[in-house]
Amino acid sequence: MTDTVHRFAPRHLVCGFVSPYQVMQQGTLRLVKGRGIYVWDQHGRRYIDGLASLWNVAVGHGQPSIARAVARQMNHLAYAPTLLGFSSQPAEELARRIVQLAPRGLTRVLFTSGGSEANESIIRLVRLYWRLKGHPEKFRIVTLNRGYHGSSTGAASLTGLPYFHQYYEPLMEGVLRLPRPHCRRCELQLEHPSCEIACANELEQLIQREGAQTIGAVLIEPVQGVGGVIVPPEGYHQRLREICSRYDILLACDEVITGFGRLGYPFGIQRWRVTPDLISFAKGVTSGYLPLGGVLLSEEIYRTLVQAGPEFSLHHGFTYSGHPAVCAAALANLNLMRRRRLMSRARRLEAYLANLLEPLKRHGVVREIRVIGLMAAVEFESSQVPTASGQWPLAVQVRQACLERGLIVRASGDVVAVCPPLVVKTSELKQIVDTIDRAIEAVVTNAKESARQSTRANG
Ligand SMILES: Cc1ncc(COP(=O)(O)O)c(C=O)c1O
Repeated sequence: MTDTVHRFAPRHLVCGFVSPYQVMQQGTLRLVKGRGIYVWDQHGRRYIDGLASLWNVAVGHGQPSIARAVARQMNHLAYAPTLLGFSSQPAEELARRIVQLAPRGLTRVLFTSGGSEANESIIRLVRLYWRLKGHPEKFRIVTLNRGYHGSSTGAASLTGLPYFHQYYEPLMEGVLRLPRPHCRRCELQLEHPSCEIACANELEQLIQREGAQTIGAVLIEPVQGVGGVIVPPEGYHQRLREICSRYDILLACDEVITGFGRLGYPFGIQRWRVTPDLISFAKGVTSGYLPLGGVLLSEEIYRTLVQAGPEFSLHHGFTYSGHPAVCAAALANLNLMRRRRLMSRARRLEAYLANLLEPLKRHGVVREIRVIGLMAAVEFESSQVPTASGQWPLAVQVRQACLERGLIVRASGDVVAVCPPLVVKTSELKQIVDTIDRAIEAVVTNAKESARQSTRANG
């Protein structure tokens, strides 16, 4: 797709989720500065960061307290290997703070360098836990269709998006999948609420079919992000929890996107008052200022590890687990969130954002709007726009039209996803939605015009 945004041609950089061919042809958009919800490119052009960069820059760009905390820590101590039983004040303090924020019963933290490593750790912890409990055959993990859990081999195997598997098979064995809770496009062809949340009940049928003795955990994103901001119906999370408990299966939540205030709570699952056994987190914990992830473990899981005795160790961890400077960045980030009450801000702005987005439905091509906390999806009815052959999907065209109008959002399938920094003001939310509105208008007008031209040319 050609565009009017001025791009920079990197000679040596590979961009993982963008076609290398496109990067060669068009280059990348080089960003040089950020303040609050805004970023600037090298030509001084300003963009609203409508996706909090990659769902992560929760406190916004250019927060000096985070930079100061990192510099201070680096001046004291470069590094301490948590892996080998050393620690540092920031790592200890951060683990304590995260446990304070977590649902009760989740009492220990294993740090990683990001979300994929966190989910990779969940795979290993599930296997480890059940093996220590005397059930080595309970290693299979249930995940949802179109869930995203990362792109390292284990995490990509948990991921339910086919294009993450296409070139990488064989995948890790032992992953089972469930339909996702997407009411508007129900995979079971049922209607909510008369379905009585059949997609959650499917878990019980799957367990009975495959055998609870072979399944160690169910891993879900409380709200699917990359898969298109899929908001499950009320009662869904509780139902999964009940079924997992009934069959002695661990419930794990991937809170890489939903953690740290995105849904208006420290962890998204708290919105539904459900306590999982494991939580993976990343992104918002540092607001993206430095790379950090981790797993919260239940006291029961941790006690099992302790009871394995002095000869036992996890033999699992990463060089940069609990890096002091990274933990210092996270603590400064959490302090900022506390000072500005950002963990609950998404709850306060949710209805406002939903009201702003609702009128977009008048475009006809908009199939559904979904808003939860400060995460939103504008889902398009692609087939309603006459597109000339070779054109990009509607959501991709709208994302591009937004970029040309100074707004960064993300296209995923038929969805344009919006996920601004939690510091966003109401006037800025209005600006974001106005831009999407104008972008849709332009794309629809364009598509109709090119369809008219191709009819004329063929006729
Ligand atoms: C829900 C979820 N889990 C895991 C990941 C992977 O995290 P990372 O890219 O930090 O490895 C992501 C990244 O977007 C994610 O959205």
